[in-house]
Amino acid sequence: MTRISIRRPDDWHLHLRDGDMLKGVIGDSSRHFARAIIMPNLVPPVVTTQDAQAYRQRIMAALPAGDRFEPLMTLYLTEHTDADDVEAGKASGLIHAVKLYPAGATTNSHGGVRDMDKAMPVLERMAKIGLPLCVHGEVTTPEVDIFDREAVFIETVLDPLRKRLPELKITMEHVTTSNGIDYIKSAENNLAGTITTHHLIINRNAILVGGIRPHYYCLPVAKRESHRLALRAAATSGDSRFFLGTDSAPHVDPLKECGCGCAGIYTSINTMSCLAHVFEEDGALDRLEAFSSLNGPAWYGLAPNEDRITLEKQAEPVSFPAKIETGAGPVTVFDPMFPVHWSVV
Ligand code: NCD
Ligand code: ZN
Repeated sequence: MTRISIRRPDDWHLHLRDGDMLKGVIGDSSRHFARAIIMPNLVPPVVTTQDAQAYRQRIMAALPAGDRFEPLMTLYLTEHTDADDVEAGKASGLIHAVKLYPAGATTNSHGGVRDMDKAMPVLERMAKIGLPLCVHGEVTTPEVDIFDREAVFIETVLDPLRKRLPELKITMEHVTTSNGIDYIKSAENNLAGTITTHHLIINRNAILVGGIRPHYYCLPVAKRESHRLALRAAATSGDSRFFLGTDSAPHVDPLKECGCGCAGIYTSINTMSCLAHVFEEDGALDRLEAFSSLNGPAWYGLAPNEDRITLEKQAEPVSFPAKIETGAGPVTVFDPMFPVHWSVV
């Protein structure tokens, strides 16, 4: 197969940032994707419906002329989130999910949740109104090894929460381990997972072998090869519980190439090409559409996009810029470390 047509994809986990960075990156998403779940970890975070409304307006204002793109807004869960505000946000059609960042788990998460008990009233309301909770599934306990943080989160936070509130729909974001995949598969309902492009391609060697490579550092950090293979199997299986969330997370190069570099990998620009490569390699091109365009809308209760995109395999490798220039500074583009022959035409 050298040409495939699929329904236009959506990105179910995206960092668009704000200001000059937003203006510099949004076109790379709106070129291929119709919609995206927009992460609320700005500084300060998007915590109220009013914040989300204002952020949505800034996103729409930054959109390249002529592009159609629907930002699906989320709220950043804090211990003080107002359940009535969340319900009003959903009822108005603006809010599509609430995001749980365990405090300190990742970029701009210090205002996240420390004590789950304090979040229960909001979570109970969300269960009642059918609003999904997106979780960054890592514990932040200093004693827990960074490579084990997802597995420990499942055991000590996610599973107890699901037992306490089985009616709550939970999206386990950017799954990086076979533990996460197995846990999602074992659930009878109300649990799904997003998988990033880069976690299908790199394992932890990419970050550490031959020198420290900050542009492969993200959170949750890439794990060993057996985990990557489990993610690949899940993504390419067509199983409706798994779908694309790129977690494309731009940081300017000086903030990544330094003594304490930020976590985040920028993949919006070449995600669809990389995914076509991955799915072809696994003999699953016919299931790319399920992963990138069908399973996500079904989970979020939305119709799949009506229009389509076509991917074509080129004889010569397709070239992407090594960096994009934004008003905030240069952002290095994810390098999959293999030649990519697929392009969106
Ligand atoms: C994200 C960011 O930079 O906002 N970074 C990342 O490595 N994925 C935050 C996140 O999703 O964890
Ligand atoms: Zn993210």
